Amino acid sequence: DGPETVSPTGQPTGADQARVAQSGAYLTTAQGARLPDTDHSLKAGARGPVLLQDHHLREKITHFDHERIPERVVHARGAAAHGVFQGYGTAGEVSKAAFLAKDVETPVFVRFSTVLGSRGSADTVRDTRGFATKFYTEEGTFDLVGNNIPVFFIQDAIKFPDVIHAAKPHPDREIPQAQSAHDTFWDFVSLHTEATHHTLWNMSDRGIPRSYRMMEGFGVHTFRLVNAAEESVLVKFHWKPKLGVHSLVWEEAQLINGMDPDFHRRDLSDAIESGAFPQWELGIQVFPDTPEQTFEGIDLLDPTKIVPEELAPVQPIGLMTLNANTKNYFAETEQVAFHPGHLVPGIDVTDDPLLAGRLFSYLDTQISRLGGPNFAQIPINRPHAPVNDMLRDGMHQTAVHTGVAPYHPNSLDGGCPFLAGADMSAFIETPVKVPAASKVREAPASFSDHFTQPRLFWLSMTPPEREHIIAAYTFELNKCYEQAIKERTLQVLANIDTELCEEVATGLGLPAPAATEPLTEPDPSPALSQMGGTWPTD
Ligand code: HEM
Repeated sequence: DGPETVSPTGQPTGADQARVAQSGAYLTTAQGARLPDTDHSLKAGARGPVLLQDHHLREKITHFDHERIPERVVHARGAAAHGVFQGYGTAGEVSKAAFLAKDVETPVFVRFSTVLGSRGSADTVRDTRGFATKFYTEEGTFDLVGNNIPVFFIQDAIKFPDVIHAAKPHPDREIPQAQSAHDTFWDFVSLHTEATHHTLWNMSDRGIPRSYRMMEGFGVHTFRLVNAAEESVLVKFHWKPKLGVHSLVWEEAQLINGMDPDFHRRDLSDAIESGAFPQWELGIQVFPDTPEQTFEGIDLLDPTKIVPEELAPVQPIGLMTLNANTKNYFAETEQVAFHPGHLVPGIDVTDDPLLAGRLFSYLDTQISRLGGPNFAQIPINRPHAPVNDMLRDGMHQTAVHTGVAPYHPNSLDGGCPFLAGADMSAFIETPVKVPAASKVREAPASFSDHFTQPRLFWLSMTPPEREHIIAAYTFELNKCYEQAIKERTLQVLANIDTELCEEVATGLGLPAPAATEPLTEPDPSPALSQMGGTWPTD
């Protein structure tokens, strides 16, 4: 189902091999005509004028003029690598997904990214990192499109344009590039306090990873797994790096930004080049799939909440090894199109309202970013499973489809064999009951708790980690021009912790307000020590 010049694994074949590899015996036009010269335009005499009839000049410059495509609206700067995922088989009881079975090896492509900076921005900024994985499974492509922070700024996708407009550079002068130290960001997160938990993670050491190889990844939302008996559980996905979690301190990050803005992408590709293949274990926290969709009082549909690992340990289900660098940045890292709706049998979504909006957004944006609806034919996006999709024509169509009946039902092209009967290897949405309810524009009551988990996170920090957080808030807020925004943020901090608020207030030269929300007593149990995941011990 694609151009004949590309093999099923996306590699060019035949005559195209030479052209794509730029290894032909001589230079040609795009039409294959041999060129004598690509250094001089055709002129009437050596001193010109240049002649319009110079097809090579026009072809070369016209193509160059159109080399750029829009960068991603978020996560524009990325670095990627190929690898393999090997299932442990330990997920067999909860998911029928074939690629999770013991010892099954599945090719993967992973793209790490910053969120806010543009394509050419620096790597070691304070930001969330994307951690998007494409599993080319035999049952279709599964994308796990996660971040290195387990919670998100918003609970409802309808707020995504708001949070991104606030966090991107100011519309008037495009300042600042690629960091959150500015008025619009702090204006939004201090008004929209469901952002408090994610912002606190950003201000912690997790906001400046040492290396992509030393980052955790999180699916953030709760997903639903289904086994062969059609029983379901709810899960949260975690990637745990074999190298442990490590961060840069602010001063290191500043120096590196100046000395090597490509630090993270260089680190990733150098490691792979030298055979030090980075590895992550994929793990799941498993919860019963109850009608309430809560666990220990935590709303599993609220993407601003985590479930502490002490309450639900992360159970390893497979190992990912990145073992090959990209050969062409544009063809692979830039043109790859991830989508949280790329699911396989055994893995399904939940009703998290943030996830619902994402299921719409990625395909929509990729239609404009990748120039039409046929980007699944781009080699990096091609499923490794057979495709028989009845999608036809459109911009940048490169497949030469056969048959006359791209419709169902038909009697001309052999009907639709893939639709025959209730085939259990098909992706079938889990028949979850939807409660009878009125249409409302409201959030559930549990979504209004914005401070309990940020406080738990703060209380789980060691003294040096707390110092870093205080310094980060102080630096960032000192960059704001509007005093009211600083004051409102101090109010948010007062609702997390008195010491945090007082220290930052001192740094800003402002009075510390009192909390307006009840502050929970510190829990003496060791559970709080690992609130957000396992910290490295090596
Ligand atoms: C891109 C993660 C929320 C819209 C990305 C990427 C990641 C990511 C990792 C980069 C993909 C790549 O490397 O190509 C997340 C996570 C979210 C989240 C973990 C929340 C839990 C949202 C929401 C929306 C959204 C709520 C919209 C409603 C987008 C768009 C892109 C993107 C438009 C660019 C995609 C492209 O151009 O290919 N996101 N995102 N994201 N995300 Fe999200």
